[in-house]
Amino acid sequence: MTLLAVAVRGRGIVDPEAPVLHADDEGLIRGRAAFETTRVYDGRPFKLDEHLDRLAGSAARIGLPDVDRDECLSLAAAALDEAGVPDCVLRLYWTAGREGDDEPTALALVSSIPAGLDEHRRKGIRMISLPLGLEADLRAVAPWLLGGVKSTSYAVNMAAEAEARRRGADDAVFLASGGVVLEGPVTNVWWRRERVLYTPALELGILAGVTRSTLIVAAGTCGYEVREGVFPLEHLAGSEETFTSSSIREVMPVVELDGRPLGPGVPGPAARDLQEALRDEASRDG
Ligand SMILES: Cc1ncc(COP(=O)(O)O)c(C=O)c1O
Repeated sequence: MTLLAVAVRGRGIVDPEAPVLHADDEGLIRGRAAFETTRVYDGRPFKLDEHLDRLAGSAARIGLPDVDRDECLSLAAAALDEAGVPDCVLRLYWTAGREGDDEPTALALVSSIPAGLDEHRRKGIRMISLPLGLEADLRAVAPWLLGGVKSTSYAVNMAAEAEARRRGADDAVFLASGGVVLEGPVTNVWWRRERVLYTPALELGILAGVTRSTLIVAAGTCGYEVREGVFPLEHLAGSEETFTSSSIREVMPVVELDGRPLGPGVPGPAARDLQEALRDEASRDG
């Protein structure tokens, strides 16, 4: 991804090469910041309202100052205008600000879309499973674990992606104890048996993906039933097809799990139907 434009609370547009954080910004020194990533289609950030709702929820859970929606909207608009690229990635950051200060830092970043996504979609990706060592029901009752919060404390998620690459795969899926399927480091996970799509329930403390909720509606339109629940990895491993969902990667077929083919080992029809439905919705949204 190439950074194309940056807007900063209290400053407006800045040179993307310029430093924008104080050394004691709590977003940097303690990871006390919430963020959102959305894809911009034809100049329109997809489901921006839903992303701002989630940003506000994450900020509240981390104990950050209240998110100023209008401020975020105007930073986003300024950065998109400055970038002048119709299809791109918009990221919004809301941090605790400087140590001992109540003034949040807010940033809007516009970047190019990462290369290679469509190629991965055509071929499908390889995934490994990684245990988190948590009881499946713990995050629902342990708010300090920040389950379902999109914070910048993503070093574990990035380390999981690196571990997948180290093992010759492309992505990972986290498991709770007992092999319960949770989510990917930056995606939600889905699989299909006949006309039923399965995806882990939000009660497991996974992130409520905006793409996930879009696909739950789209699946009905495409003739699939969706079951959200608590499923062991064996249920996914025995599926006819598997895919992940996220704002940037959209619907991404998974053709291999832990070195073994999933279903026939090629991208499946539900991933294709839902990718198409997602793009249809993106062309209407806004
Ligand atoms: C942990 C995690 N789960 C799921 C997702 C997918 O969410 P969305 O569809 O809103 O992009 C993300 C997105 O970054 C994520 O970080």
